[in-house]
Amino acid sequence: MPKILDGAAIADAIKQEVAEEVRTLVAHGIRPGLAAVLVGNVAASEIYVRSKVQACAELGLYSDLITPPDTVTTEDMLDLIAALNARDDIDGILVQLPLPPQVDAKSLLDAIAPSKDVDGFHPISAGRLLAGRPALAPCTPAGVIEILKRSNLPIASQHAVVVGRSDIVGKPVAMLLLNNNATVTICHSKTRNLAELTRQADILVAAIGRPGFITPEMVKPGSTLIDVGINRLNTREEFDRFFAGNEKREAAFAKRGSVIVGDIHPKAFELSGAYTPVPGGVGLLTIAMLMANTVSAAKLRRGL
Ligand SMILES: NC(=O)c1ccc[n+]([C@@H]2O[C@H](COP(=O)([O-])OP(=O)(O)OC[C@H]3O[C@@H](n4cnc5c(N)ncnc54)[C@H](OP(=O)(O)O)[C@@H]3O)[C@@H](O)[C@H]2O)c1
Repeated sequence: MPKILDGAAIADAIKQEVAEEVRTLVAHGIRPGLAAVLVGNVAASEIYVRSKVQACAELGLYSDLITPPDTVTTEDMLDLIAALNARDDIDGILVQLPLPPQVDAKSLLDAIAPSKDVDGFHPISAGRLLAGRPALAPCTPAGVIEILKRSNLPIASQHAVVVGRSDIVGKPVAMLLLNNNATVTICHSKTRNLAELTRQADILVAAIGRPGFITPEMVKPGSTLIDVGINRLNTREEFDRFFAGNEKREAAFAKRGSVIVGDIHPKAFELSGAYTPVPGGVGLLTIAMLMANTVSAAKLRRGL
């Protein structure tokens, strides 16, 4: 039977450690602080940001929720970032994406002080990661490494195949795996003979954004499958493609009218040695790692 890598339990353990560290810092007069910038009224973004602010409250971090209207200009946003960069009570700055089309997201992310870049998207953070220096790594990729390490799954000398090369998941997760001494292959939409490569993976990371893209024929039996994908299935036809006959999922679909599936086909998990379920796997680590990054940023900025 494959081992299910329980994202909730791992995220809880990380959050407890972060809360403990926050208590120690507060005892020394330092309360790590996160500024969360939420522009406009995108429903999904509101939910994400609310969860992040709530996590700060639970773990004892200070948070400041800033909500510019969706008519905001790039200039206004740059002024806001400059003010947050200068504030001593703010250790981490998070600008929730997506931003309205009139705002130049790249220039905003580049304007965040690298020392406060808790999302790890700044080119300087990416460069530090590449150079193997202490870095604020993007949260979801950092969560993948925590899952592997805390589940005592070896990384060093393993062949890790990452499918996806985005700046926020694929590239940084590949770099973190390399920094942990895996042999890493990065695949993307132009990769030839993809299945031949994925079948060689001891650790297969899927960050593609296509429901159930990695099928059973594409995985090596006994390997570790890390599924970063989050795809919503809204129709009965899509649902049946993955979950026909699955009573638990059927109940969820009847209740909500949709279910989530990852980038790895559920049938492929059955062949694995260990896997992260969707939901309940990698997705739950992202906020925990954001909290951990904010505490790291608070310490690094003060030379602790
Ligand atoms: N908190 C979380 O758990 C979390 C966080 C972030 C993202 N996600 C999820 O992770 C998934 C990936 O996100 P992302 O932001 O990295 O997506 P993205 O920016 O759209 O990147 C997708 C990557 O997949 C590659 N790809 C697409 N079709 C392919 C194919 N047929 N064969 C091989 N590679 C293919 C693309 O290749 P090219 O570069 O060649 O186009 C690209 O590099 C999404 O489902 C997203 O929702 C989850």
